[in-house]
Amino acid sequence: MSQEKIENVGVLGAGLMGSGIVQVCAQAGYRVVAREVEERYWKKAFERIAVFMQKAVEKQKMTTADREAALGRMSGTTEVGDLADCDLVIEAVVEDLAVKNEMFGELDGLCPPHTIFASNTSSLTIAEMAAATGRPDRMVGLHFFNPVPVMKLVEVVRTIQTGEDTFRRTWAFAESLGKIPIAAKDNSGFVVNLLLVPYLLGAVRAVESGVASIEDVDKGMVYGCGHPMGPLTLLDFVGIDTTYRIAEIMFQEYKEPVYAAPPLLRKMHLAGYHGRKAGKGFYDYGGSEPKPMDLNL
Ligand code: 3HC
Repeated sequence: MSQEKIENVGVLGAGLMGSGIVQVCAQAGYRVVAREVEERYWKKAFERIAVFMQKAVEKQKMTTADREAALGRMSGTTEVGDLADCDLVIEAVVEDLAVKNEMFGELDGLCPPHTIFASNTSSLTIAEMAAATGRPDRMVGLHFFNPVPVMKLVEVVRTIQTGEDTFRRTWAFAESLGKIPIAAKDNSGFVVNLLLVPYLLGAVRAVESGVASIEDVDKGMVYGCGHPMGPLTLLDFVGIDTTYRIAEIMFQEYKEPVYAAPPLLRKMHLAGYHGRKAGKGFYDYGGSEPKPMDLNL
C-alpha cells in the first residue's frame, strides 16, 4: 500500500476544463503545474483564473492573501516533462485518444512509480489510456463538470485494473477539493454523460424537426423542470464541437440511436458554430444578450 501524499498536481491542458481544474487545485492548497502546447494558452487561462479569484475577493468569499497564495502555487509550461515530479497528473486535453496516450506514454517514463494518472475524459474509457502506460493500476478517471469551480460533482472512475489504493487516494483528493465524488464504472460516459448526452441530442432533434423554437425548447426545461439553463444554452456552454465528439465516441461504443449526433449538430460543428466560446452556436453572443440564431430551419 502506498502512503504517498498528493502535494504536486500536474494538469495537461488549460482550456475550459483544465483551467478550472488548475484553479480548484491551487485554491485547495496544491502546487499545480499546467501544461499547454503554447505559452499564450496557459497565460490566458491564468489571467482568467486571476479575474475569477478577484471577483471572489470582491464578494468576500476569499481573502486577498489567499488569492495571492493560490496564484503563487500555479505555474505553467509547454514541456510535458515539467510534470515529472507530480504525485497526480490530470489530463484535460482534446477528446482524442492518440493525443492523450502520447502524453501519458511520455510521462510514464518520467514520473515516479507512485504517480497517479487521471483523465478528465467525457466519453473515452480509461482502459484505453491505461493500455498506453506501464501502470494500469495507477490509472483512474477524474471527471469534473463545467464550470469546474462551481459544479460540486466529480466522477471517480476505476477500471478493472485500478488499484484500491489508487482509487482511495483519488477519492480523498476529490474530497479535499471540496467536491462530492461518486464512483463510476469505466463505461463510456460514466454516469452523467450516459444520461445527459441523449437529453442534449434530443433537444437538438426537437429543434431540427420543428417541435419548437430554440428559445422555447430551452424555456421548457428551465421553467418546466427547474434546470438552471435549457439544453441548447447548455450545449453552447459545453461546446458544440466537444458535444459532437462525445456523441460520436458514445455512438461508436453503444451503437444506440440516442447517442447518434443529429445532422444539425454536425452542420453546426462544420460551420464553426461551436457555442459560447466561438461567439455563435444555438445563440449569437455578439450583442448584450444572447439571441437565438437563425439556422434556416
Ligand atoms: N468559474 C468560476 N466561477 C464561475 C464560473 C466559472 N467559469 N461561472 C460562474 N461562476 C460563478 C459566479 O461567479 C457565481 O458565483 P457567486 O455565487 O459567488 O456569485 C456563480 O458561479 C453563479 O454564476 P452566475 O450568477 O453568473 O450565473 P448563474 O447563477 O446563472 O449560474 C451556472 C451559472 C453555474 C453555469 C448555472 O447556469 C448552471 O449550473 N448551469 C448548468 C451547468 C451544467 O450543467 N454543467 C455541466 C455540464 S456537462 C459537463 O461539464 C460534462 C462534460 O463532460 C460535457
